[in-house]
Amino acid sequence: MNRQEIDTLVKQMNVDTATAAVDQRVQTIVVRLLGDLFQAIEDLDIQPSEVWKGLEYFTDAGQANELGLLAAGLGLEHYLDLHADEADAKAGISGGTPRTIEGPLYVAGAPESVGFARMDDGSESDKIDTLIIEGTVTDTDGNVIEGAKVEVWHANSLGNYSFFDKSQSDFNLRRTILADAEGKYVALTTMPVGYGCPPEGTTQFVLNKLGRHGNRPSHVHYFVSAPGFRKLTTQFNIEGDQYLWDDFAFATRDGLVATAIDVSDQAEIQGRGLDKPFKHITFNIELVKDATTAPSTEVDRRRASA
Ligand SMILES: [Fe+2]
Repeated sequence: MNRQEIDTLVKQMNVDTATAAVDQRVQTIVVRLLGDLFQAIEDLDIQPSEVWKGLEYFTDAGQANELGLLAAGLGLEHYLDLHADEADAKAGISGGTPRTIEGPLYVAGAPESVGFARMDDGSESDKIDTLIIEGTVTDTDGNVIEGAKVEVWHANSLGNYSFFDKSQSDFNLRRTILADAEGKYVALTTMPVGYGCPPEGTTQFVLNKLGRHGNRPSHVHYFVSAPGFRKLTTQFNIEGDQYLWDDFAFATRDGLVATAIDVSDQAEIQGRGLDKPFKHITFNIELVKDATTAPSTEVDRRRASA
């Protein structure tokens, strides 16, 4: 079949058969995607067994709750960032901290505090470096944004996230910090370790077929929001990690690489109320003012909450 025949067939089956109210947007997308799929079957001579293997794959990936991970791993989530950047540029919006992928491991409802939070529950403090993350939330002109909501989450020393890893305490390494009167937020936590896809999981299964690894560099996730500003979804990836620029999820971007500086000065250690050397990362955040003409940065997706 040629494309015209395909489009006619898809329309006959999924448009002309409507007998009740139609969601126009869904209809448009379904018709387009089916046409593109049928065209791919024509072009690549995709066999029935291959189609069924593909459908079975999505069944398995859905049952394993790995479709979010798959979207990151195949670059769909990164593409959406690039597409959003382009939409912003077209709308004349520039500046601010770059966006990057959310990933599938956010959990709503983390404990909230003003200015400072300790994020870890202490269970790993003797086997991994202490990390202090601090920064200031400003607008693109450098004015501080008091009360900006900084939601932070990251992995433990094994690359695992609380809630999904039931061996961790509730909300371990997840906090919401409201920027203080100077726009500052400080997080006392432990050094995160890079994440690897579950080796026997459905995402790694397809990555293996593509000859790809499923590793991420050490990183820390953020949602930053404030009234009158566009919500920012981002993360920093930590300099020195072997996967920094070889991230299977393509989240590392210019402007989002953080350097962890070793601090061993006794006065500084004591000044922080600590008893051992620590690592320090500065991550300042710039939010862009919202405008009615700006594309929305809110992404509606199913997220865990606890
Ligand atoms: Fe992550």
